[in-house]
Amino acid sequence: MPMTKPLNTLPRLSRLIIAALALTLAVAPILAQPGQPPQKPAGPWMDKTLSFDQRAGLLVQALTFDEKISLLHANGWEMGGPETLPLRALGNAGFIAGIPRFGIPDLQMADATVGVTHSSVFGRYSTPLPSTIAETSSWDVELAREYGSLIGRELRDQGYTMTLGGGIDLTREPRNGRNFEYHGEDPILAGTMTGAEMKALQEQHIIGDLKHYAMNDQESGRSFVNVKVGKRAMRESDLLGFEIALKGSNAGAVMCSYNLVNGDYACENNYLLNEALKKDFGFQGFVVSDWGATHSTAKAANAGLDLEMPEPDYFGAALKKAVASGEVPLSRLDNMVHRILRSEFAVGLFDNPPDRRVPDVFHGLEVAERVAEQTIVLLKNTNGQLPLAASNIHSIAIIGSHADVGVLSGGGSGQVDPIGGNAIPWAVSNGQVWHRSSPLQAIRARAPGAKVAYDPGTDTNRAATLAKASDVAIVFVNQPTGEGDDVPSLSLPGQQDALVAAVAAANPHTIVVIESGGAVTMPWIDKVSAVLEAWYPGTRGAEAISNILFGDVNPSAKLPVTFAKSEADLPHPVEMLQPPPRQGEEVPMFPGAPWKVNIRRFDIEYDEGLLVGYKWYDAKNKQPLFPFGYGLSYTKFDYSDLKITPDKVASGRPVQVSLQVRNSGSRAGAEVVELYLHDLQASVDRPPQELKGFRRVVLTPGQAQTVSFTIDQRAMSFYSLAKKSWVAEPGGFEVLVGASSRDIRLRGNFELAAAGRR
Ligand code: BGC
Repeated sequence: MPMTKPLNTLPRLSRLIIAALALTLAVAPILAQPGQPPQKPAGPWMDKTLSFDQRAGLLVQALTFDEKISLLHANGWEMGGPETLPLRALGNAGFIAGIPRFGIPDLQMADATVGVTHSSVFGRYSTPLPSTIAETSSWDVELAREYGSLIGRELRDQGYTMTLGGGIDLTREPRNGRNFEYHGEDPILAGTMTGAEMKALQEQHIIGDLKHYAMNDQESGRSFVNVKVGKRAMRESDLLGFEIALKGSNAGAVMCSYNLVNGDYACENNYLLNEALKKDFGFQGFVVSDWGATHSTAKAANAGLDLEMPEPDYFGAALKKAVASGEVPLSRLDNMVHRILRSEFAVGLFDNPPDRRVPDVFHGLEVAERVAEQTIVLLKNTNGQLPLAASNIHSIAIIGSHADVGVLSGGGSGQVDPIGGNAIPWAVSNGQVWHRSSPLQAIRARAPGAKVAYDPGTDTNRAATLAKASDVAIVFVNQPTGEGDDVPSLSLPGQQDALVAAVAAANPHTIVVIESGGAVTMPWIDKVSAVLEAWYPGTRGAEAISNILFGDVNPSAKLPVTFAKSEADLPHPVEMLQPPPRQGEEVPMFPGAPWKVNIRRFDIEYDEGLLVGYKWYDAKNKQPLFPFGYGLSYTKFDYSDLKITPDKVASGRPVQVSLQVRNSGSRAGAEVVELYLHDLQASVDRPPQELKGFRRVVLTPGQAQTVSFTIDQRAMSFYSLAKKSWVAEPGGFEVLVGASSRDIRLRGNFELAAAGRR
């Protein structure tokens, strides 16, 4: 006989109370906030005095086989609205349920390259920051930290636990549609800035990510293209960027890319994943596939892929089978799980689970504006056209590019939803997104005494007529880019070049403001008096542009990419990007993809090797339109007193370089000092100069500052294929310090002694 009374014999009120209690307990896990494990974790792995590896190791031992498998794949696309989501999923790019009884957090992944994406469908707020290429134009490590910190905080506020940001493919192909999400063409600049950004992001208890590993330097045929490139070239270009960013951040994840590299898909490429990333770079986190970039089970797992996204095509039931049959060793399975848990422990997801709150909108907007101000590059300024003196100007013509209502955003998974919706009605926006930051309004506010008129620029003659009748004409032009496509050429699309030429012919005070994801050509450059490269400047872009135009902010940004005079100067002038069409049949873009395409695998040979960006122009003696590292200020800076010590350095020892920079103009400003190195006696071909360091210094008029750099052995080295390591050869080196790669102000030499000699 049961000791307790059956429920139906209790009084009605008691039954109701018990039922309510039971229901509360049953739904407690459901009521728990998404992103938070509903139970209080316990277990030896919660001991904070243990190392991350010890904690992960203890937890792996506690898991069942099925639990381990469940952590190695997601169960579907998360791109729909709230109604399509699994329990606890926040919705964005991906979700992997944690295991609450062990305190294993949910992996809530959000695309967040230039801010947290996908907010509108859930009615959330995220700050649309200037694009990543813009952030890099600041050459300011502190700014990169602030950028990463803001994104990390807004992810955490919304309950996410992992970013899918950290884009660091080099700008090898300037027509690549995703260059706006990346950090420019130089591995030292890109690696340093991305490392600082990801470190700051991880300090917000969010797993950082670096993507797309590797050589995903073009979008055309990205799932089919087989990149052919030498190992030394990779080590000294794209892979070096990843290596430096990892060292700087200890990012918890690396996303392998869609493309193939030298015959193997990046997500099953033993050389890239096991040899370079895990062994040589010492990466301790996990490799996550790009969405649908997994193509096998045993090959991928054994080559180093740890997590399949977003479907369980290869790392679900198939992985179970492969482990059971011994094709994938159990130790490897444990290592895959270990790596994921280790990253979760390392960023503090166990000890500091998500802490949701309303994002600080005011802070977000303030950072967005300040970042934009530090990242807009002044490319041309004839006769001091800028800054504009509001009190002397009676009329301003604002022309083109929807400058009456907004500024352009990049497209694809790096696109952050515009606050308040698209500034341009969807029906006429051509799929592009414009943030509601109006240059017209910002300029009107700054020049209240002037007549400021707008012309859409659709009729060149009408625009020229307005320009002629105005003191100053400011033409806004744009180059939309986004994920999935490359731009067909570096020319501004449509009639924009003709528009600028017509306006410039009508008004000698023509200023051009470019909104683009990367370099564009400028056939009208000699005809205009000033040019600003504003990139995709984010949700406060117009205010920042106006602050620069009127001199409230002195521009200090410099180009992180070379601007070519024309496509003829590119390593691959003729479009060799486009995949050849498949005859007849269509195939899914990747296994399980809803989109079908009729292209087939094709090769692209990056035969420029490590001569990416300025290294190509230097080696081939080509004159760019604007060189890497270039950008003007409203003040002037003098360089002097270069000291290099010692001038003969023993093998293994560093060289110290110092110099003076002085603000010799009349405005406060910031200068980015760039240090390049030239190996004078290398036994292998090396670029004529390679960036090795940079510093941004802020100086009041007349103020001088000493800037110092350390050149260590690694900085002197090249990657030796024979030795499979970095080698510094004895001999002479030239140190070049300047304001851009083509504006070297100071030069000096040192000699590296042979090993054993002083
Ligand atoms: C993109 C990634 C992105 C992923 C998830 C892929 O198509 O290449 O950058 O993180 O989708 O949205």
